[in-house]
Amino acid sequence: MREQLLAAEKVKAIDWRDGALHLLDQRVLPFEETWHRYDSAAGVAEAIRQMVVRGAPAIGIAAAYGVVLGARARLAAGGDWRAALEADFRVLAESRPTAVNLFWALDRMRERLERLADEEEVLAALEAEAVGIHDSDREANLTMAQLGVELIRRHDAKAQKLLTHCNTGALATGGFGTALGVIRAAHVAGLVERVFADETRPWLQGARLTAWELVNEGIPASLNADAAAAHLMKTEGISWVIVGADRITANGDVANKIGTYQLAVNAMHHGVRFMVVAPSSTIDMSLASGDDIPIEERDGRELLEVGGKRVAAEVDAVNPVFDVTPADLIDAIVTEKGVVERPDAEKMAQLMCRKRLH
Ligand code: MRU
Repeated sequence: MREQLLAAEKVKAIDWRDGALHLLDQRVLPFEETWHRYDSAAGVAEAIRQMVVRGAPAIGIAAAYGVVLGARARLAAGGDWRAALEADFRVLAESRPTAVNLFWALDRMRERLERLADEEEVLAALEAEAVGIHDSDREANLTMAQLGVELIRRHDAKAQKLLTHCNTGALATGGFGTALGVIRAAHVAGLVERVFADETRPWLQGARLTAWELVNEGIPASLNADAAAAHLMKTEGISWVIVGADRITANGDVANKIGTYQLAVNAMHHGVRFMVVAPSSTIDMSLASGDDIPIEERDGRELLEVGGKRVAAEVDAVNPVFDVTPADLIDAIVTEKGVVERPDAEKMAQLMCRKRLH
């Protein structure tokens, strides 16, 4: 199956070439395919903040390349370049708060930097580390896709209806996708009758990005309002809700795009299985539970306006853009280290002791 999955890897949103980071602008998809070139850490941080690049793994990969760009400029400026580079780490870390992959990638870059004594080696070593982060995310996607398909097949080997939320595909990751990677692989394996994609208000990642990826690959799909999900679970015979994650804590709680929690509650009520697909770089064992996860709150205008035009009455808006699904609503967390069914603190700790499966 690996070869078939690699053949399906068509979309690329992060490209490191000619000593610069090139990002496909996700704000204007699906209408325009516009690439921007970044050659500074501050530029990459701004791209993350402005949502040019998004999705937890993609943000982490972009930040790693941002460190390479920062180091290049600081070394060229001379003086105490290591101290100056701290400002780049800081600006990158402050770009978005919830997806832990950002902090995980910055920590990995810092650890690599701290092991480097010879100034001559710094740039090549940091670049290799960033490329390694990118490549290993791509590999993790392939492993998770295969594990997710095995899980689906173990419960039912016929083509079935799946529901997903937000974007977790090639645009949001280094390669094939997390939840959407499992869905892609399930399609290759003949296990998909139809995918229901939540539109994912207010940024419409489902309508703009997931729908675009699904249609490009000829996967039978339809778009639905977020509020239609419970009705579809009741009437359509959906067997799995499959989502990604932005941060998973030591007890198996999962932060993901706002609306995920209500999907999990509804899935439990309707007997629909609930799968979370995320690389181990999304697991934050330093936090005991989801209550400790910083939840990004964005400008209320994202709700009050559509396409820059006000659609709401004169009222304040509350706009948390992630929520936390408690572990006891989750059937399985699929990672590149393996699958945790009915997650809890003990099983998460065991998972993190394992090696990657590829
Ligand atoms: O705000 P965004 O667009 O960065 O949010 C993206 C999501 O929440 C994804 O569902 C999540 O990162 C899963 S990872 C592929």
